[in-house]
Amino acid sequence: MAAASLASSVLSANSCASIRRRSLRVSDFLSFSGRDNSVSCRRGISRKLYTVKATVLKDEKEKVVVEESFQPKGFPNVDSEGSGSGENESTSAGAVESWVIKFEQSVNIFLTDSVIKVLDTLYHDRDYARFFVLETIARVPYFAFMSVLHMYESFGWWRRADYLKVHFAESWNEMHHLLIMEELGGNAWWFDRFLSQHIAVVYYFMTVFMYLISPRMAYHFSECVENHAYATYDKFLKSRGEELKKTPPPEVAVKYYTGSDMYLFDEFQTSRAPNTRRPTIDNLYDVFWNIREDEGEHCKTMKACQTHGVLRSPHSQLQDGLDDNDPGCVLPQAECEGIVDCLKKSISLQDKQM
Ligand SMILES: [Fe+2]
Ligand SMILES: [Fe+2]
Repeated sequence: MAAASLASSVLSANSCASIRRRSLRVSDFLSFSGRDNSVSCRRGISRKLYTVKATVLKDEKEKVVVEESFQPKGFPNVDSEGSGSGENESTSAGAVESWVIKFEQSVNIFLTDSVIKVLDTLYHDRDYARFFVLETIARVPYFAFMSVLHMYESFGWWRRADYLKVHFAESWNEMHHLLIMEELGGNAWWFDRFLSQHIAVVYYFMTVFMYLISPRMAYHFSECVENHAYATYDKFLKSRGEELKKTPPPEVAVKYYTGSDMYLFDEFQTSRAPNTRRPTIDNLYDVFWNIREDEGEHCKTMKACQTHGVLRSPHSQLQDGLDDNDPGCVLPQAECEGIVDCLKKSISLQDKQM
């Protein structure tokens, strides 16, 4: 197992409301940089730099322990807080927030479990059709996130290029999963196309609404979906492994995983440094092995996104390391968390200006 290391700096959250250090998590593989590029943060604030060194696993066929790294059925935001600072802040606001998080996650788990039961009933003996439906649905939340982020950007409420970049790269990755399933014949029956496309439309509007009200809840819902996708492919690899190893890979999979331009492939893997994962595709087993790993990366990103403002593009993190003293071309950032927060801040800003 080869390893590469990456050091990243994390700004103190003392003055920048966008960064919540108390809930910033470092994954087992690579630290997240919760650094805010805002002009206001860069100027006039004494910065504390925390250097975190982490290890990135290079892509090999070793067992990558991702199952343990995401457990959407728990309540990570609730469980892990409180022990870190030792402050025991049992304020009523904190208690209400914990209750809201538990409620959001319980609703998400109920919804995903219900959909999984329907899929289990309809697709228990038709693997590729099931994967086609899953991949048609899987792209939707990323497009929904981008739709809402575009709207916030237009209104000047929220501006984070990294979120748009990463979510587009995730949807690009899911689109290639979908193309692979189509090449394997998963979309052959009209009913599967009809069902998946109609679920996708409903899912889009549901995700937009959820993301407007509570980005944390929407990201947790996606984490549940991605976790199911990971488990589905993992089970498939274990049950059909030998057969898959004797089957040639689809051409679209070879082109996607071994192409010359891997920028977007690196871009969605926010817990890895760019160029640290380069798959080899010799057979269909390799294809599903890599799809499963992609789903694991989506899971980790969706989990990280539940902490507002933390997400950084892997290429931005790399750039930060190269040009630490060069602010470069920094876009002015706006800040808000969900539409209620956006409206409140927008109104209070207008009041101050009057
Ligand atoms: Fe996928
Ligand atoms: Fe996924």
